Amino acid sequence: MRTRHSLSRTTAFAALLLVLFGVAPTLAVEKGQTSYTAEAVCAFRSIAALDPDPKTRNPDTLAKHFVNPEMVGRFPGLGLAFDPAKVAIDTMDNGVFYYVNARTHHMDRLLTKALDEGVTQVVIMGAGFDSRAYRFHDKYPQVRFFEIDLPATSADKQQRVKKILGKTPDWVTFTPIDFNTQTLDEVLTKAGFAKNKKTFFVWEGVTYFISREAVQSTLDFIARNTAPGSRVVFDYMLEDVVSGADYSPYGSRRTVFFVSTRSEPYVFGLQPRYFETFVQQRGLKALSDLGPAQLSDRYLIDSQGKPRGKIAEFLRIAEVEVPPPVERQALINRATGKPVSAINASLQHRVPIPDDVQALLDRHTQFFKAKDLDAVMTNYSDRYSNNGRRKDMVEAFIANAFRRANFEHFQVVVTRFKQEGDMARIDGFVDRKAFRSPLVITHIRKEADGKWRWYGNQR
Ligand SMILES: C[S@@+](CC[C@H](N)C(=O)[O-])C[C@H]1O[C@@H](n2cnc3c(N)ncnc32)[C@H](O)[C@@H]1O
Repeated sequence: MRTRHSLSRTTAFAALLLVLFGVAPTLAVEKGQTSYTAEAVCAFRSIAALDPDPKTRNPDTLAKHFVNPEMVGRFPGLGLAFDPAKVAIDTMDNGVFYYVNARTHHMDRLLTKALDEGVTQVVIMGAGFDSRAYRFHDKYPQVRFFEIDLPATSADKQQRVKKILGKTPDWVTFTPIDFNTQTLDEVLTKAGFAKNKKTFFVWEGVTYFISREAVQSTLDFIARNTAPGSRVVFDYMLEDVVSGADYSPYGSRRTVFFVSTRSEPYVFGLQPRYFETFVQQRGLKALSDLGPAQLSDRYLIDSQGKPRGKIAEFLRIAEVEVPPPVERQALINRATGKPVSAINASLQHRVPIPDDVQALLDRHTQFFKAKDLDAVMTNYSDRYSNNGRRKDMVEAFIANAFRRANFEHFQVVVTRFKQEGDMARIDGFVDRKAFRSPLVITHIRKEADGKWRWYGNQR
């Protein structure tokens, strides 16, 4: 596991890059490192499990054993008391803590239903520090669990399990996978997965970190290779948030920015109105698709009848089922009749902007691709200031970025534009092909020579 020192240095560098250009230096969980987001949501569950109100308390009673002690520094009171930890959580003001709490409740409920109906095979995909294999064992001892995750996180999880239980449990099989480069077929078949058994798949907090192709091929495999009646519960992110077209859903902008600084940017999203078509195209039947209001009403209302906190609004939880083979083909036929292109339509959220503003963005793109520092700096006003950072500081950071990162694919895409005189505010994202990050410098100014330049927020 990363040391605290190197973690904070890497994070600080990544955060600075993002603040300056909307650039994250790597594309996924760093090789050999435990997933930071897996640690964070485990910490959230351990805090929510201390909730004095039994109605909203998180059912993950084992999260406190899995939690990384390094997280205690981030959330004072973690493992000790609910109230001080909640104060720290609420200052983050993004609603993810409450979303994660609702998610545990909901996914536990669906898993319980499946196990009560007789399912004996469960696959936890992108398992992180999910404790269900251990929490549900006593009541359902006949169930075999497969936990699959990136190799480093999977290895770390196994060590923690061994420490907590004193042994590696014989009802759990750990299998490494990288969804972006491997198929479920490759890893599950070798691990002893029984294709003929009705299976419950938990895919919690994962789809948005992997490519569209990886999401599709995983669902395709499940639809074709598991017994009818098998189900998958998974959550997904709103596509307009991932694409940078709309950060108005509560908590989205802060969270997108935050995860990018942790080298785990969001790359995949779906539009809820195309959710059903999307899963039908894979040959799966949509059972439910819950948004923030439904999740909050079901799981976050405390004993006084009040919401425990404000839930993040940019994530949804879906459940789908594998139909019998004949029905599967009918679903695919029906769904593919709909224009597939519409599903990706939201990626075209560019708004029209004046030609001379476009010229600034074109110059910027071209100079970044060429890593031409002097030229890039001509796009910054001499009076540039962004949260106290001046032009010379920007120059030092860009120089650093050019040494470390690849800018072959770099494009500023504008999704909102508002001009008042010689000042304008632009909003959007930096497209790095494999992922997008919010545009953080949003003000430009037309200077005496008639050219637009980055002006910062002047704070
Ligand atoms: C937010 S964590 C969720 C962990 C766990 N499911 C939970 O809810 O506590 C995201 C998980 O996705 C996994 N992940 C990210 N990219 C992946 C990939 N390409 N292949 C496999 N797993 C991946 C991470 O290792 C991490 O465990």
